[in-house]
Amino acid sequence: MVLLRDGQTAYFPFLKLDFDMNKKFSTLMLALIIGLMIVAIGMGFLFGPTNPIPWILMGVLVVIVIIYNRRSGRDKLEWKDEYSVGIKDLDDDHKQLIILLNRFLTAYEYHTGEAFERGTLKELLDYTRYHFDKEEKMMEDYDYPGLAEHREQHESMIAVVGQFQKDYEARGHEALQGVANYLYGWLISHINGTDKLYMPFLTGKGLS
Ligand SMILES: [Fe+2]
Ligand SMILES: [Fe+2]
Repeated sequence: MVLLRDGQTAYFPFLKLDFDMNKKFSTLMLALIIGLMIVAIGMGFLFGPTNPIPWILMGVLVVIVIIYNRRSGRDKLEWKDEYSVGIKDLDDDHKQLIILLNRFLTAYEYHTGEAFERGTLKELLDYTRYHFDKEEKMMEDYDYPGLAEHREQHESMIAVVGQFQKDYEARGHEALQGVANYLYGWLISHINGTDKLYMPFLTGKGLS
């Protein structure tokens, strides 16, 4: 994680390599354990449906999958009231951006296939552009003095993601690690940092 001049944080792939390697390793281990348990369950049923062992193993399997999913779920972003910028329309957009980012992260982390990965990333970026335009128009309408700097933040994010998209065209799925890490770090720090800067000004103009 690197602190940028406006207090935002940027995430770079190599800095999160350990984390991603650990995650990949635990996913592989889980797949191995599930595979072995399925084999054991199948063999257990060879001794008849009254044999309790396969039923117990099936229960353990379900518990393992539930626990793993809950642990994975903690990595997803969640909306918090403290992220509010005091303007419902923009808060709703930010909530939607978090939903779309989580959808993209799920598509990437679970290797759901190129079409779905590409679709969720496009949906997220389209909505991001739509939201940036709306936010900038609102700041423009009320002569917000920090508009130029804020717009610069939006444009630099779009440029970075554009580079990642080119990388994706060249390298496919593996390139998404960079965009996932970047967006994961960027989104909340922007909503809860840069966007918060216009809050007193715009709410002071009567927006809510
Ligand atoms: Fe925003
Ligand atoms: Fe913004």
